[in-house]
Amino acid sequence: MPHFISLADISAADLRAILDDAHEMKAARKGLPKGKTDPRPALKGDTLAMIFEKASTRTRFSFEQGMRQLGGNSIVAGAQDMQLGRGESVADTARVLSRFVDAVMIRSNAHRTITDFANQADVPVINGLSDHNHPCQIMADLLTLEERGVTLKGAVLAWIGDGNNVLSSFVNAAPAFGFELRISSPEGYRLEDNPKTQGLITAAQAKQANIRDGLTPDAAADGADALITDCWVSMGDTDKAERLAALGPYQIDAARLARAKTDAIFLHCLPAYRGQEMTTQVLEGGQSAVWDEAENRLHAQKAVIKWCLGA
Ligand code: CP
Ligand code: NVA
Repeated sequence: MPHFISLADISAADLRAILDDAHEMKAARKGLPKGKTDPRPALKGDTLAMIFEKASTRTRFSFEQGMRQLGGNSIVAGAQDMQLGRGESVADTARVLSRFVDAVMIRSNAHRTITDFANQADVPVINGLSDHNHPCQIMADLLTLEERGVTLKGAVLAWIGDGNNVLSSFVNAAPAFGFELRISSPEGYRLEDNPKTQGLITAAQAKQANIRDGLTPDAAADGADALITDCWVSMGDTDKAERLAALGPYQIDAARLARAKTDAIFLHCLPAYRGQEMTTQVLEGGQSAVWDEAENRLHAQKAVIKWCLGA
């Protein structure tokens, strides 16, 4: 079953094919109204179910509109509105939904919920963010870099900030796409400091990924093709004050961005907190690609769903 749960589990050739399809579909829709179906709608008659245990703006709207553009349908539910919220098991829910829909997207608190669901489902399962992965986001980010002229193989991507779920998926993508990933996160907030993500970098390095961890923010930024960050307090994080204190020196401001290549790109999955992980000047500046990045969730995910359904 082609689940899209972790980028570490999908072949480089398939990930490449998904990105190529996303580029093609985006180009083919140029000028079309957003709600109109694609010139070649590939998922007529297919339905995607979406379950959210956490808040979402981009993921929810892009998946839903993506299914429409592909000629299919979607059904969205908050986990708390389902019997899941009253204690029905993930496994039973998976078996039942498999009888109704063709694929399921889940945004979960615990990554384990998604893998447990996939173990019992007869249909493909897509990870719409968990506590330690956000694979759909990274496909959109890579699409954005490529359309701005970055050749991923050999490109220097610098992550400056919290060692979180989005970073984990960049690490998982590194072996497949061949970019150099530089990581600068404060002590206590590194991927290696979190039992859930310990060993992830070493596993990617064992697959020949070029990853440098433990850099200072400025060393990570020097000469990079892209500076990437995310919020300092993710959904579910409870230690807000400690995080803001530890991550303060990791803000991406104009001076830090100036250390990267002159045409370096700034990425952020959004939502963004101006004055924390980056200044307003950086977020709104000419090097920021965040609005294209958000739009690309739509195009990248359409390709992901098609891949899952073999369309
Ligand atoms: N970037 C992202 O996943 O946004 P949402 O939380 O709004 O879906
Ligand atoms: N790291 C953030 C990403 C939100 C899209 C979170 O998990 O809340």
